[in-house]
Amino acid sequence: MQFCGNNSISNQQIMQQYIQQHKDRFLSELLELLRIPSVSADSKYKADVRLAAEFICKKLKSAGADIAEINETAGHPIVYGEKIIDKSLPTILVYGHYDVQPADPLNLWDSPPFEPIVKDEKIYARGACDDKGQVYMHIKAFETMMATNSLPCNVKFMIEGEEEIGSDNLGIFVKANKAKLKADVILISDTAIVANDIPSIDVGLRGLSYLEVEVTGANRDLHSGVYGGAVANPINILSKMIASLHDENNHITIPNFYDDVLELSPAERQAMALTPFSLEAYKEDLAINDVRGEAGYSTLERASIRPTLDVNGIWGGYIGEGAKTVLPSKASAKISMRLVPNQQSDKMTAMFTKHFESIAPAGVTVKVRPHHGGEPYVTPTDSKEYRAAERAMEESFGKKPVPTRGGGSIPIVALFEKELGLKTILMGFGLDSDAIHSPNEHFGLFNFYKGIETIPLFFKYYSE
Ligand code: BES
Ligand code: MN
Ligand code: MN
Repeated sequence: MQFCGNNSISNQQIMQQYIQQHKDRFLSELLELLRIPSVSADSKYKADVRLAAEFICKKLKSAGADIAEINETAGHPIVYGEKIIDKSLPTILVYGHYDVQPADPLNLWDSPPFEPIVKDEKIYARGACDDKGQVYMHIKAFETMMATNSLPCNVKFMIEGEEEIGSDNLGIFVKANKAKLKADVILISDTAIVANDIPSIDVGLRGLSYLEVEVTGANRDLHSGVYGGAVANPINILSKMIASLHDENNHITIPNFYDDVLELSPAERQAMALTPFSLEAYKEDLAINDVRGEAGYSTLERASIRPTLDVNGIWGGYIGEGAKTVLPSKASAKISMRLVPNQQSDKMTAMFTKHFESIAPAGVTVKVRPHHGGEPYVTPTDSKEYRAAERAMEESFGKKPVPTRGGGSIPIVALFEKELGLKTILMGFGLDSDAIHSPNEHFGLFNFYKGIETIPLFFKYYSE
């Protein structure tokens, strides 16, 4: 079914009306989903992760999907749904994730992470923005299109439960189900806009290489008075090794680290500098007195088009109450590298490993263990799907969206292109200030409803 002229205007109004009539129910259903602690990283929540999958599956079915099923994997299940109205029409594959990050540290939440509340026009809960709230916009947009007889093309849904732990099983599922997943474009809402009055479309994701390192000294913990000063202290050594990974300009010191980096042209950097951004507001939001990063690049560039190396966790020795005089036998750290176009996750992991082992001084042994990784992705802006997203947002926000390069990673996106040959549109509705992965994560009601309103417009313009 195609829309044109007045027909489309009235259809739009009917959908608006439907959303208006059902908005309270849409919200209460989302709150129900947010009450399920679907933390994929922690096996203690395995049953809850499944409950969240069942919830999504049930809602896809009741919204009007012909197929809504749960696919088992070696890990958490994948929900698949579809509505095929006419095989000759295009098919949009919607991807999202119903799993969430662990909620700790719990004491920093103003209200419990899995007891969602609406405060100051925002929904507070773990997963409110990343990604349950944004997945739910798609299910309710689909319900709205179905209920108002406005679905203009075919749609498939693939909502997974392992995005926050690297999507390994989804990768296997995609490779094994290419025919089932046949589509024309992938649509994802799992990113942010610049501000509620500055709509934007994310046109880049960074890749990722995540590792764990362990430094071992003596064969046991030692009295720090008896042995201290004479035997390597793994924590001292690990700190020194980590500190050596950046130079005084905050460049990463691993040999050949930047070799594959695709540098932006001066014109591209100039275009990027036009992205609305206030350094003062940025610092104020984070309560920092200055920013810090690689010399020669702006804050926006540092957080999107440049590769990074960061410690995500570090431990060893005594951290209980009071003091214990001890030289630990071991010290460890979790380290992530964010990668940019042309850098390859496996290659960078190997490069890091070789370097880190080579800088270990005598007196300790070093082990490097790779975790998950993912490749970077860039969305072309001269495509039919980009224009459809641009028109959809321009209509719903009343302002043309700006393309922005994001700094986060969604590893499956590069794999979609490799395995399915499909491009992805990252039409997210969150805000960087939504505190994803952090205490007091939230999602604005404005953003939730704006998403529900915008998604059908993307469907419409993409099908034209
Ligand atoms: N939705 C985020 C990624 C994101 C956030 C992209 C904001 C752009 C802007 C996603 O759920 C996420 O957190 N991904 C992880 C990667 C994963 C392998 C753990 C990340 O970026 O750390
Ligand atoms: Mn996410
Ligand atoms: Mn996330």
